[in-house]
Amino acid sequence: MALWGGRFQGGSSDMFRQVNDSLPFDQQLASQDIRGSIVWSRAIAKAGVLTTSEQQQLEQALNGLLAKAEAGELDFAASSEEDIHSFVEAALTEELGDIGRKLHTGRSRNDQVATDFRLWVREHCQQLQQDLLQLKAALVKSAERHKQVILPGYTHLQRAQPVRYPHWCLAYVEMFKRDISRMADLLARMNQCPLGSGALAGTVYAIDRQDIAEQLGFDSPCHNSLDAVSDRDYVLELLFCASTSMMHLSRMAEDMIFFNSGEASFLRLGDNVTSGSSLMPQKKNPDALELIRGKCGRVFGSLQALLVTMKGLPLAYNKDMQEDKEGAFDAVNQWHICLMIACEVVDSVELNTERCAQAAREGYANATELADYLVGKGVPFRTAHDISGQVVLAALAQGKAIEELSLAELQQHSKLIGDDVYPVLQLDYLVDKRNILGGTGKGPVFAALDRELAELAKA
Ligand code: ARG
Repeated sequence: MALWGGRFQGGSSDMFRQVNDSLPFDQQLASQDIRGSIVWSRAIAKAGVLTTSEQQQLEQALNGLLAKAEAGELDFAASSEEDIHSFVEAALTEELGDIGRKLHTGRSRNDQVATDFRLWVREHCQQLQQDLLQLKAALVKSAERHKQVILPGYTHLQRAQPVRYPHWCLAYVEMFKRDISRMADLLARMNQCPLGSGALAGTVYAIDRQDIAEQLGFDSPCHNSLDAVSDRDYVLELLFCASTSMMHLSRMAEDMIFFNSGEASFLRLGDNVTSGSSLMPQKKNPDALELIRGKCGRVFGSLQALLVTMKGLPLAYNKDMQEDKEGAFDAVNQWHICLMIACEVVDSVELNTERCAQAAREGYANATELADYLVGKGVPFRTAHDISGQVVLAALAQGKAIEELSLAELQQHSKLIGDDVYPVLQLDYLVDKRNILGGTGKGPVFAALDRELAELAKA
């Protein structure tokens, strides 16, 4: 029977059950629900609602259920219960009779589900922080393996200035570090316990909310019962964390899809993360990366969906809020899978060092250097920019690189250009001249890489 059956004469329609029942998905909260119930049973025993023996029987039965939940042995498919809360209560009542029927005293599914979901979000944030650390480690190791590689850097997808491969890797490391710290912010903000807020107004029983919060690993109880049962900011923030991190993953995927293309050919991906074509035997497609990029759609969608669900809701709990779960479960699952497959992709990357250097040399990536060289000879930068542009035009007309022009040809554009210009136009020279904190020169990049390697060694 439903938890709320007394006031009803007629039963629910099948169609109503389909729209209302949440057990098919909120079964994912089984372990959190049971752990919350154990602590609740202790709290109401302290408040005099249960005898010591009743509480012990409940705790024992709940521990049995917890073991089954963790072993994946609870049979949800055979159950006709509405949600995970009624499922657990029904299992207890089947085992303990009336004692099982006492557990819900002073509690509502509204503070219960809010507590369960906060526990779930907390645990999954911690897991995802570990996943992000793993990807960070994969990138740092890849940077170390290909320490000397220089490839073109782009703006507008036009070759702009060459960069070291570790510099590219460490750019994504910075993003993933921000993702980790963004979740740390969320964890600190959300770590308050709703239990004891009742349906919306608090509970009449003398519950020690501080103690409940501590037992469940929260920093404190939520301060306001109306807010506690109707707040889903922590789910939205989780979805924002997931969306931002997926956006980072997607940009990395997009870079690598391009680097892997026949046109660029900077890198090769492993057979373990690519697939072929059913028609074209020569193909090796970067599916893993494309799917990372593609799965952003559903993750961003879940954030948008929950924002829209929440925006018009009056205080306090409304059933609309049951829609908070499926999107979050899916987003977290997809994010986890994408982080793990990204680790495999990064591990599988083999760089074509020569091809990278060649591409970095092509495309007049040293035109800025020529301008800076002229600045060094006293030419104002704007004039130097103009001269260097004319040199590029002349070189283009001959199908040559700047450094392939003779001194006489270069001097047609400025008499200030001397023989000393040629070393300045070399790839290593122009990369390593960016010897500034945060720049792509050997000094700052290798120092940053060493810092990251030291972090890894500590972990
Ligand atoms: N299953 C609901 C949810 O996920 C919790 C139950 C609250 N139901 C209620 N009738 N107040 O949000």
